[in-house]
Amino acid sequence: MCGIVCAVSDKPVLPLLIEGLKKLEYRGYDSAGVALYDPQPDGDQFARTRSVGRIAKLESALAKKQDSLSSAGIAHTRWATHGKPTQFNTHPHVSSGKVALVHNGIIENYQGLRDELIEAGYVFSSETDTEVMVHEIHRQLSLGHDLLEAVQSTVKKLRGAYAIGVMNADEPRRIIGARSGSPMVVGIGDNGGYIASDMSALLSVTHDFYVLEDGDIVDIQDGKITLTDINLKPVKRAVFTSQQSDEAAKLGEYRHYMLKEIHEQHQALADTLEGRISGTHVLEGICGADDQALFSQLEAIQIIACGTSYYAGLVAKHWFEKYGMPCQVEIASEFRSRKHVVPNNCLVVTLSQSGETIDTLGALKVAMEAGFAHSLSVCNVPESSLVRESDLVLMTRAGPEIGVASTKAFTTQLAALLLLVCAVCRHKNLSEEQQAAIVTELRELPALAAKVVSRASEFEALAEQFSDKQHALFLGRGSHYPIAMEGALKLKEISYIHAEAYAAGELKHGPLALVDENMPVVAVAPNNSLLEKLKVNIEAVKARGGKMLVFADEEADIENDKNCQIIKITAVDNIISPIIFIIPLQLLAYYVALIKGTDVDKPRNLAKSVTVE
Ligand code: M6R
Repeated sequence: MCGIVCAVSDKPVLPLLIEGLKKLEYRGYDSAGVALYDPQPDGDQFARTRSVGRIAKLESALAKKQDSLSSAGIAHTRWATHGKPTQFNTHPHVSSGKVALVHNGIIENYQGLRDELIEAGYVFSSETDTEVMVHEIHRQLSLGHDLLEAVQSTVKKLRGAYAIGVMNADEPRRIIGARSGSPMVVGIGDNGGYIASDMSALLSVTHDFYVLEDGDIVDIQDGKITLTDINLKPVKRAVFTSQQSDEAAKLGEYRHYMLKEIHEQHQALADTLEGRISGTHVLEGICGADDQALFSQLEAIQIIACGTSYYAGLVAKHWFEKYGMPCQVEIASEFRSRKHVVPNNCLVVTLSQSGETIDTLGALKVAMEAGFAHSLSVCNVPESSLVRESDLVLMTRAGPEIGVASTKAFTTQLAALLLLVCAVCRHKNLSEEQQAAIVTELRELPALAAKVVSRASEFEALAEQFSDKQHALFLGRGSHYPIAMEGALKLKEISYIHAEAYAAGELKHGPLALVDENMPVVAVAPNNSLLEKLKVNIEAVKARGGKMLVFADEEADIENDKNCQIIKITAVDNIISPIIFIIPLQLLAYYVALIKGTDVDKPRNLAKSVTVE
């Protein structure tokens, strides 16, 4: 799971390659490198710079080359799969000083290819699966093939996923790209042609793109872009003009993107709702022109997602089933690897911030092949693969989310899902009055979110009690159990404290044994029909010497004492309360991570968009 950006232009390309890599850093940030076509005094045709760590480190390493006039280059940011993040394993990889290559994806049959190439005399300098491709392309060139044919015959030998950019030292004005299973866009510029893992990397030079499909190969030569399929037959892809702006992704006054994104939630929620509700109801057509005709026939919903998005799906299950629509939720990596009994008229709903999560994309494909009737994506990136591959779409409109820990993507997913619940369940048990009540709550949601965020300093004051802890438990019931799960995920991913969530009723079936004065227990306590049962669970923790931190509705009537600290959250209607109750947990995790001094926006071992299985 990596990012690539490549450029052939009539201008120097190094600044664009570095800027592009910074935009793609969400895809991986273990190590990064650049190869420029730039003949060196020692006879090398490529100037290659690679460094372990963030793009900023690569940028410093390239400081002396800032004035490079090279007008062709390829660049890569890596999330290690095969081989540790070392200089040797960092891309671009080069074969015999003649071919340079960057790769996003995983080559499953690399070992066999590697053995063959070693037998043919090639010496490997990395442990990566990628290096087989660059040597194989070199071997094909030595057999007399042109670069395009060499790339074609190489990719035909591959099993797995790839998006590659390739340069040949003998053809300084040419770059070839190819993809299968990993995303790739081709930027159409006035001054050249470009390749990248996504459009954001190239917005400073173009807004016009071809979005390549599996098996496509692109040949960019002297400003001309030619697209073919894997058999080198010309293919046509429509020009897609991106509406993304480069500005929204800037940090501004905030210390971290995560904090900025938490603070943006009220606006993001307002944007998600805008133009989708009117009077007392959710508008028809929010997911596409004919959505009501389709929704009226539905008999079941199958939600598929990963991580934070999966937890949003678990909340939505409560909502769908409350109003009569059967709903299953499954982690995408599990869904994609088993057989399915397909319910009649079942809508597959994929949830994803990025729209590029490979397991979610894979699961959607499996679902369609298994015979599920229709697909709908709730997604934040309009130009993503998931959006392109779904029948219907409901965009979350959170704006760019850069912090690896999802915050505004989650709350806007929940708001979008609540709109979807209305659009679907009014054909089931959701009455007009109930829909009107939900719409009223949704209208109040952005202001309520802003109110909770404005109390950030109160949540900051709680963080100290976690800073010396190794473990924490999170408890919730009903639609707030997934909120406990998401709160635990936030804490563990950015503070590295081991945090687990339990349905509060499960506590007595095992996890209670863990409770002592060193195990903080966080509970989410909205004022709903499950509150009395939750209070019993809280008492059970206190009786074992545990320390409780309870985020409770103003009207929940739970007493503060020395073992139970109550943080009162605005009184809020039960249906939207999961969207409000996650906010203090996001802020708590953020401030614990600050104390622990972790890299909040880029926690170790993670990446924003998970494009490997
Ligand atoms: O882009 P997606 O929503 O498909 O990503 C799924 C997960 O990788 C993601 O939600 C992850 O769990 C969060 N970044 C964690 O905060």
